[in-house]
Amino acid sequence: MSDLGFDGKVAIITGAGGGLGRQHALMMAARGALIVVNDLGGAVDGSGSDKGAAQLVVDEIKAAGGDAVANTDSVATAEGGESIVQTAVDAFGTVDIVVNNAGILRDKSFHNMTPDLVDPVLDVHLRGAFNVTGPAWKIMREKSYGRIVSTSSAAGIFGNFGQANYGAAKMGLVGFTNVLAVEGAKYNVRANAIAPLAFTRMTEDLLGPLGEKLQPELVSPLVTYLAHESCESTGRVYSVGGGRVAEVFIAECQGYTSDALTPESLRDNWDTVTDQTDYEVPAALAQETAMFLKALS
Ligand code: NAI
Repeated sequence: MSDLGFDGKVAIITGAGGGLGRQHALMMAARGALIVVNDLGGAVDGSGSDKGAAQLVVDEIKAAGGDAVANTDSVATAEGGESIVQTAVDAFGTVDIVVNNAGILRDKSFHNMTPDLVDPVLDVHLRGAFNVTGPAWKIMREKSYGRIVSTSSAAGIFGNFGQANYGAAKMGLVGFTNVLAVEGAKYNVRANAIAPLAFTRMTEDLLGPLGEKLQPELVSPLVTYLAHESCESTGRVYSVGGGRVAEVFIAECQGYTSDALTPESLRDNWDTVTDQTDYEVPAALAQETAMFLKALS
């Protein structure tokens, strides 16, 4: 089978001045995508900015024979999102792919989590995805084509100490992805999320010896495939790192049904409520409602 080429498709990759985003940009550019390299260039906690980071990746792409343009606006504001999409339109005429990747960390146990640690994290990860994908969606819907890949995290999907802000934002992106998959279906717009694990400046102090196996470039093949025209996946979440890729899904147990439900009957049947035998994986709300109808009929 032939290689997956992008033949002039236009991809916006946020936070692509370093880490995972840079690798996604390099891989897609090498396969013929035209890239908007967005990066504000701040520190891991989101403070400061370095407007040169995005341009360095653009230079790298061009030196390798590809085409790219830099944008240094923040994804955290609606104006920033508009400007990022406008950069794609001005430089390349349209947008086909959005990779929501920009991110920051402000970890603290919930007990010590103040609004200055919550708001910027929600703004970059979660609102950032709205801010950039929103204006791109209009274009994608009009031309009935689009691929959206958002960067979630196991910290939200499964939970991790000290990351209530980040975990909420990252799980928010799973909901975002689920709904965009439903709404995008008839416009050939597909949305998926990834939960990566990679050695970058964000995780360099956390990973220990495992870090050596977790090169960020091992996450990019999944992002590249999900961004490709031929990939039919939508509304799905994938764990990816170190060369391993595995689907992650939200399932529902068959549950316990009674027309005389009481706290006591629940206590006495809790094993049935939580019995994971024969769980189902609803593709969307309608399929979950069907589980109710079956149980109640
Ligand atoms: P990184 O810190 O190297 O990359 C994040 C990039 O986003 C930076 O270049 C930063 O300048 C940029 N950025 C931050 N705020 C921005 C804003 N407001 N506007 C535009 N750009 C902004 O970290 P890494 O590891 O490459 O992270 C990429 C994504 O992957 C993030 O969303 C992160 O939360 C997620 N992730 C990473 C994991 C890992 O193991 N490295 C684990 C789970 C999720």
